[in-house]
Amino acid sequence: MARTPPLPDLRPARINALGEFAASIAHEVKQPLAAITLNAQAGLHWLEQDPPRLEQARVALRVVLQASRAATGMVRSLHGMTCQAEPERSTFFVDDMLRDVLQLLRGELRQHEIRVSEEFGLARHQLYADQVQLMQVIMNLLQNGIDALHAVHGRERTLALRSMLMEDALHISVTDNGAGIAPELAERIFDPLFSTKPGGTGMGLTICHNIVQAHGGRLWATTAQPHGTVFHLSFKEYTLWTPSRS
Ligand SMILES: Nc1ncnc2c1ncn2[C@@H]1O[C@H](COP(=O)(O)OP(=O)(O)OP(=O)(O)O)[C@@H](O)[C@H]1O
Ligand SMILES: [Mg+2]
Repeated sequence: MARTPPLPDLRPARINALGEFAASIAHEVKQPLAAITLNAQAGLHWLEQDPPRLEQARVALRVVLQASRAATGMVRSLHGMTCQAEPERSTFFVDDMLRDVLQLLRGELRQHEIRVSEEFGLARHQLYADQVQLMQVIMNLLQNGIDALHAVHGRERTLALRSMLMEDALHISVTDNGAGIAPELAERIFDPLFSTKPGGTGMGLTICHNIVQAHGGRLWATTAQPHGTVFHLSFKEYTLWTPSRS
């Protein structure tokens, strides 16, 4: 009697895809949720002063609102990516977007005693891109920098966020002065689910890579001197804003 060949077992692939999606969601909401918790605590702290420090409380609550909008946007955009939807593009100023991301991470940077240097050189340059997704990329790179600095003791912990025009492309870089990436691991850091951190999902750089690729950009890492890592982003398509003369 002829036997039908066994059906291929698709479960591992599906479980893996589902695992990656769940890990991506968990990964992307973690940062805004941390910002919400930190800033809600700060807001309460300012309100409990005698007299209450209303301006500081207002600033903290604005960050809470900004972070909860970011979380909503990121879940929407991840859903879009999973359904292979096109990025939702708009035109925005690169440096303003970088400032917004830093604002969300301020509390965490202060908590870990990290000095941040900002060198923004793209005041008039705009990207036509999915702003929420680009924010995710910068946030993930900064978060990896913060993670890398946890283990740094005995020297100042620093992160640098830079933007500039280089060889006719928009260039953004994130530099930390952590321990760097071991050469034997360098090939694997963009792989899904690859992580050297306890509790890491290993999805941060995969998400970054997918977003940058969908925008026709490049993302790569180099070694920083004397310590640490630089992540570079570059985009060839941009617009230069000129004020109208009306
Ligand atoms: N700035 C960095 N310095 C040193 N190692 C890094 C840095 N950024 C990434 N890596 C390495 O790349 C790996 C993958 O990073 P990725 O962001 O994809 O996941 P993760 O950070 O481990 O997990 P999660 O993003 O969920 O916290 C990290 O586990 C780490 O080994
Ligand atoms: Mg990460």
